[in-house]
Amino acid sequence: MSDRPYYIAGNWKMHKTRSQAAELAGALVTQLKDGKHKYLVAPSFTLLETVAPILKGTNIRLGAQNCAAEEQGAHTGEVSVLQLKDLEVQTVILGHSERRHIYHEDDALINKKLRLALQHGFEVILCVGELLEEREAGKAEQVCETQTVKGLEGVAAGDLGRIVIAYEPVWAIGTGKTATPEDADAIHAFVRKVLAKLYGQAAADKILIQYGGSVKPENAAQLMAKENIDGALVGGAALKADTFVPIAKFA
Ligand code: PGA
Repeated sequence: MSDRPYYIAGNWKMHKTRSQAAELAGALVTQLKDGKHKYLVAPSFTLLETVAPILKGTNIRLGAQNCAAEEQGAHTGEVSVLQLKDLEVQTVILGHSERRHIYHEDDALINKKLRLALQHGFEVILCVGELLEEREAGKAEQVCETQTVKGLEGVAAGDLGRIVIAYEPVWAIGTGKTATPEDADAIHAFVRKVLAKLYGQAAADKILIQYGGSVKPENAAQLMAKENIDGALVGGAALKADTFVPIAKFA
């Protein structure tokens, strides 16, 4: 087993009103108080101000699901790192497959956002992962390598402590299809090799790589048992304490 800590993150996506968010955040704070791992929830931008005071001083970090590539200016509909910092957000999720494939964010844009977020002191969860047709064409590794290398372009080794990678095979997101622990671990090991090529083995060994894609209470422990799987980025099952807490406290 590696000595990397586990990091379990909940991506609430475009769900919940303020009262629902406050209720879930409150339940998580109570039920994860004695949790042994690193935790995060990422609510919608409109919920951050509600959730921030509930998480403050607890063992659950506050994350945002995206940020703009520019600090400020004429960017209608975008949210800046300065605004996120003002709300005490600590982490930004970037390159989620829904951003890549529905909103056409490319590696260059994601990299620009990532460098800006790092510059402003945020931790970044960089999501990578292949589409079903890419997996079937034998290109899963190639896609993950490109997204990792381009996503991290220009990132100094000294900033790697604030980088987390989330491997999220697109065909497993919200579909109920989970990658087998073996398949997921193989890509995680491969991504770690890519990181070692970029930054050296010692640095690569310290980087947390989360798995995402239909993680549930029933499959969390088997996934986490794998050498290169250091946590989870959870979507659907993060929307209720009843399903997120057992994942966060997997045994
Ligand atoms: P899911 O989503 O757990 O609902 O598959 C994961 C994610 O998109 O981060």
